Amino acid sequence: MADKRDECPIRRSVVVGCGSYLPERVVTNKDLEAIVETSDPWIVQRTGIRERHIAGEGETTSVLGLKAARAALADAGLTASDIDLVVCATSTPDFTFPATATQIQAGLGMEQGAAFDIQAVCTGFVYGIATADKFLASGSHHRALVIGAETFSRIIDWTDRGTCVLFGDGAGAVVLEAREGTGAASDRGVLTTKLRSDGRHREKLYVDGGPGSTRTTGHLRMQGQDVFKFAVGKVTDVVRDAFASAGVTAEDLDWFVPHQANRRIIEASADKLGIAREKVVITVERHGNTSAASIPLALDAARKDGRLKEGNLVMLEAIGGGFTWGSALLRW
Ligand code: COA
Repeated sequence: MADKRDECPIRRSVVVGCGSYLPERVVTNKDLEAIVETSDPWIVQRTGIRERHIAGEGETTSVLGLKAARAALADAGLTASDIDLVVCATSTPDFTFPATATQIQAGLGMEQGAAFDIQAVCTGFVYGIATADKFLASGSHHRALVIGAETFSRIIDWTDRGTCVLFGDGAGAVVLEAREGTGAASDRGVLTTKLRSDGRHREKLYVDGGPGSTRTTGHLRMQGQDVFKFAVGKVTDVVRDAFASAGVTAEDLDWFVPHQANRRIIEASADKLGIAREKVVITVERHGNTSAASIPLALDAARKDGRLKEGNLVMLEAIGGGFTWGSALLRW
């Protein structure tokens, strides 16, 4: 009897374009020494971060996201008229509403399709990929822009040295297109996604304001050591689950592209998973933690420098406030 999967081709969400945008202004660790009591060696040793980009006046999250979206469309050889879904992962929207995704949609000149934001903090891009993949797999939509865009510099307490040295601004985007697959792990496209959350950990990483509570925007607050322990302890589970679902192992992986929060978290996670260090894409030195933007920024960097190629097996992984965490395994 023929394998059922041979008779029923499935729809895979294939990455057909990728792009990113970073604000021009670069702030080095040395620059931060003038603002808070810190030092370049402390920041490098604890986090691996050397510099980050900071958005200029008027450079809102949707402005950054729009530039990344345009770059991804150009890379795909497509125009906005080819897109019917815009998903923007962000925790730093231009306004409480409307959704930043709708502002990007308008900026692209789109009058068709649906656009909405995803709020899963640093896991936002993985949540965005998982969500768009389900829309495309269902047949309801055909081509999605999935964007991660952030201006964390605007919610940072610039007097708190424990957090202000960690974050940066930027945006990245991919275009996902529904294509027929066989159901096998050799298919191009998203192979599996695993999403988790546990809201009991709110106070470990949160913003202390919001429209429904303080009526202000608030500032980011973090218990750094607790976040560190949770990140290394939990995030490997969703990666292992993804390997098991797809029937592949760490050895089959070409690239591990984790959320870029901290070099020590990234390397500890890779080691725990048995992923060779040379397969890990790291951009945190130059970008800092750009929250939902960090994975698409890293993907775009790896593609532009020639590492990431069509057919490569790629694992995305992230953890963020909530806590939220998740993984996405895809063949580029
Ligand atoms: N420069 C210099 N000293 C600093 C500092 C800075 N920027 N920030 C904190 N310190 C000091 C602390 O005040 C403390 O001093 P004390 O011993 O006199 O009290 C000392 O350094 C150690 O602080 P601690 O918080 O224990 O450091 P740490 O080794 O845990 O490193 C982080 C701090 C934030 C780098 C680390 O906890 C971390 O990376 N956590 C994960 C954060 C993260 O990734 N968040 C985003 C997840 S999406």
